[in-house]
Amino acid sequence: MEQTTKKIIIAIDGFSSCGKSTFAKAIAARLGYIFIDTGAMYRAVTLCALEQGAITAEAVDVEKVVSLLPEINISFRFNAERGASDVYVNGECVEHKIRSIEVSNAVSRISSIGAVREKLVAMQQQMGCQKGVVMDGRDIGTVVFPAAELKIFMTADPKVRAERRYAELKAKGDDVTMDEILENVISRDKADMTREISPLRQADDAVVLDNSHMSVEEQMAWFMERYEGIVNA
Ligand code: DC
Repeated sequence: MEQTTKKIIIAIDGFSSCGKSTFAKAIAARLGYIFIDTGAMYRAVTLCALEQGAITAEAVDVEKVVSLLPEINISFRFNAERGASDVYVNGECVEHKIRSIEVSNAVSRISSIGAVREKLVAMQQQMGCQKGVVMDGRDIGTVVFPAAELKIFMTADPKVRAERRYAELKAKGDDVTMDEILENVISRDKADMTREISPLRQADDAVVLDNSHMSVEEQMAWFMERYEGIVNA
């Protein structure tokens, strides 16, 4: 564990399938920081909305989703086997359920609801108020922690991201084509960037990490240089 007295907030935003969570998790492990995957929180609310019948193929019952919010109690518990925290809803571990294709397909409609964002942003601010956190998402450096000491905006060539996702899904045994994955990556980028509330955008003071052609080790070296520059300043 890195010995340092100065704890900071590290905000990681960027496009989907860039390896943000892998990168954030590795940083947190290296620094002994807490890693918070905010996408998992939007997925957890989406799972509840699906289970309660608030989402159909045609529409989202926004009023119903909003009425469910006070009953959705989200928490994280560290899972030593994974080296990361699992997400829980009302005491039930939903880490697997939130990664399903049904949740993935519906989550952008739920994450565009203002009341959902308000609740989750307030929780995220509470979780990070002691510092010593690495938080990844879409609006961490712009909305959740605009004063974060280190903001990283991650990006990679859409084709490279699609290839990585394709390999992951194929390894899981999913029957997918490269074309549909690329189309999904491009359409998710568009949905994230054009959303009315808190769209994905690079904070003015964020540093860009394009990892299209970088190994995990190279990304870590890139990170440590910036991190040390800040904590030793
Ligand atoms: O990072 P992810 O793919 O698990 O995120 C799931 C969805 O939640 C994705 O559609 C973007 C959205 N999201 C968001 O709007 N704001 C965040 N801070 C994190 C994720």
